[in-house]
Amino acid sequence: MFFKPSFQPTYHRVKVSGIIEEAPDVHTLQLSFETPIAYQAGQFLTLVFEDLHKEDRRSYSFSSAPSIDNVVTITIKRISNGRYSRPLTENLCVGDQLSATSATGLFLLPNRIEHFQQYFFFAAGIGITPIFSLLKELLFQHNDVSAVLIYSNSSPLQTVFENEINELQKRYKNRFIVHYLFSNATQLNNARLSKWLLPQLVERYALGKKTEHLFYVCGPFAYMRMVRYALQELGYDDAQIRKENFDTSHPIHLHKPSDQKSHQVSLKLGTETHQFDSQYPHTILQTAKKLGISLPYSCETGRCGSCMLRCTKGKVWMSYNEVLTEKDLSEGKILTCVGYPIGGDVWLEG
Ligand SMILES: Cc1cc2nc3c(=O)[nH]c(=O)nc-3n(C[C@H](O)[C@H](O)[C@H](O)COP(=O)(O)OP(=O)(O)OC[C@H]3O[C@@H](n4cnc5c(N)ncnc54)[C@H](O)[C@@H]3O)c2cc1C
Ligand code: FES
Repeated sequence: MFFKPSFQPTYHRVKVSGIIEEAPDVHTLQLSFETPIAYQAGQFLTLVFEDLHKEDRRSYSFSSAPSIDNVVTITIKRISNGRYSRPLTENLCVGDQLSATSATGLFLLPNRIEHFQQYFFFAAGIGITPIFSLLKELLFQHNDVSAVLIYSNSSPLQTVFENEINELQKRYKNRFIVHYLFSNATQLNNARLSKWLLPQLVERYALGKKTEHLFYVCGPFAYMRMVRYALQELGYDDAQIRKENFDTSHPIHLHKPSDQKSHQVSLKLGTETHQFDSQYPHTILQTAKKLGISLPYSCETGRCGSCMLRCTKGKVWMSYNEVLTEKDLSEGKILTCVGYPIGGDVWLEG
């Protein structure tokens, strides 16, 4: 193999049981787990690799839906200079083994589905993976809500899951609408999604009151930002817009914590407890990793939610946060990968 999975006892051993070529450069991996894995639609799996003496991690959203699909799948797009997506799409064979942490992620259907009547999904390119999983779960499991998918690709050839989505459209024609957009289309209302086109599509398909709509967005950074701003301009609240960001490039941190002194972190993870000192510029996660304490994580940039813990006492300052909502923050949730203790010692629970 062109990479080495990290086979530590705490990780899941995963066998590749099938490979499907979805589009040029996009492969779906069918996975079988030594011990069955529990996951929710919209979550992701983090593959763990060994690179010399350190670990590398890459996350991939499930394209399968837990209550519908018998086989667990992830779908990977090859990035031309990508360290892992290239061998995962070019060299992997049926029967190869991978290593993964448990499923995680906050890009989920709401606990009370009936709270919203219409679900809008905005996906661009490989951003379709978690959205396809959510869409299947929603349509198969919940009869009394409707869904709209606005799906952008560069061309029909690049459109992953097109046949499956069209099948869903036929099966649920009374409550599921799909609108494809192709950047190479000549008609402007079927080409690139823009701040001009988005309101027209939402207004065309929206049913009922604005407060009954929930939005899911996954795609490149600029696309997600445009969708969010356009929805805000239409009068939607941020709490109605759920986002999943695949980009793990490190954001530029303009702010520093007001307190950069060393403070003690007391950690309770299930039955395990740990105590250590943590000090800026090292995050709580970086300090724990250096001490050999195994904490959950994936993107290390405050964007995926894998490293979320609850702060039960003290204060954690975060340099970046793209996943935790106001409600999460009010419940004491924090991200260790961008978190520093400030103003005294902190107590964290997982
Ligand atoms: C929560 C989450 C879910 C994800 N789900 C999926 C999924 O379902 N399918 C999937 O294919 N990928 C997914 N990703 C992205 C994936 O984890 C990797 O980042 C991606 O495969 C690139 O890894 P690499 O090692 O090949 O590239 P790297 O060697 O890490 O990066 C190579 C170059 O590509 C750039 N780059 C890295 N990631 C991207 C990207 N996503 N788009 C464009 N350029 C990039 C880097 O900045 C760098 O310049 C997800 C990421 C996150 C955080
Ligand atoms: S590891 Fe992704 S948010 Fe912290």
